[in-house]
Amino acid sequence: MQIRSLSLADAPALLELYQSLPESVTCFFQPWPQFTEEVIRTHLADADAGKNLVLGIVSEEGGIEGTGFLWNVDTDTPTLGIGLRERIQGQGWGRRMMEALLAEADARGKSEVRLTVLKTNHRALHLYQSVGFVITGETKFREEADSWCMARVKPP
Ligand SMILES: CC(C)(COP(=O)(O)OP(=O)(O)OC[C@H]1O[C@@H](n2cnc3c(N)ncnc32)[C@H](O)[C@@H]1OP(=O)(O)O)[C@@H](O)C(=O)NCCC(=O)NCCS
Repeated sequence: MQIRSLSLADAPALLELYQSLPESVTCFFQPWPQFTEEVIRTHLADADAGKNLVLGIVSEEGGIEGTGFLWNVDTDTPTLGIGLRERIQGQGWGRRMMEALLAEADARGKSEVRLTVLKTNHRALHLYQSVGFVITGETKFREEADSWCMARVKPP
């Protein structure tokens, strides 16, 4: 498997990933209310236009096993998201994806990367803190104050 940039040509495979994520993943990772073809095509068209950066963990057969993104990568403070299929969780792919996304942010000179994470998502919280994110506040994902806002300031 390899981590690579995704473009509009990857829309069918990325749609398949999102539409097959079980509730155990979407309870933590749901960047849009619904995973429609239009939403995924817009997400990838924005990547082609340089507004987003979208990466995929792609198998030898061409299937997408996980994805990570930086929304608004054309601004100073992009927003990061990450979600993997259950079968590749717990094998270091989340960390590799975070490192790839943060390397892209650093290469582009982004002063800060932001994300939100459910307070109950201990695995993600541990991963984010281990790559330099700190809690900056609280926010609502599904319920009032159910999530942390986190930010990672560019290392000197
Ligand atoms: C969260 C997610 C991206 C992490 O990726 P992963 O590949 O499964 O995780 P990794 O194998 O890279 O391990 C990450 C770290 O979490 C640790 N960890 C695992 N389970 C944990 C738990 N229950 N509590 C605390 N830490 C935990 C691991 O030990 C590892 O830390 P280490 O490298 O210091 O040992 C992935 O599990 C996922 O997609 N989950 C569902 C969707 C989701 O939660 N997305 C994030 C939304 S904010």
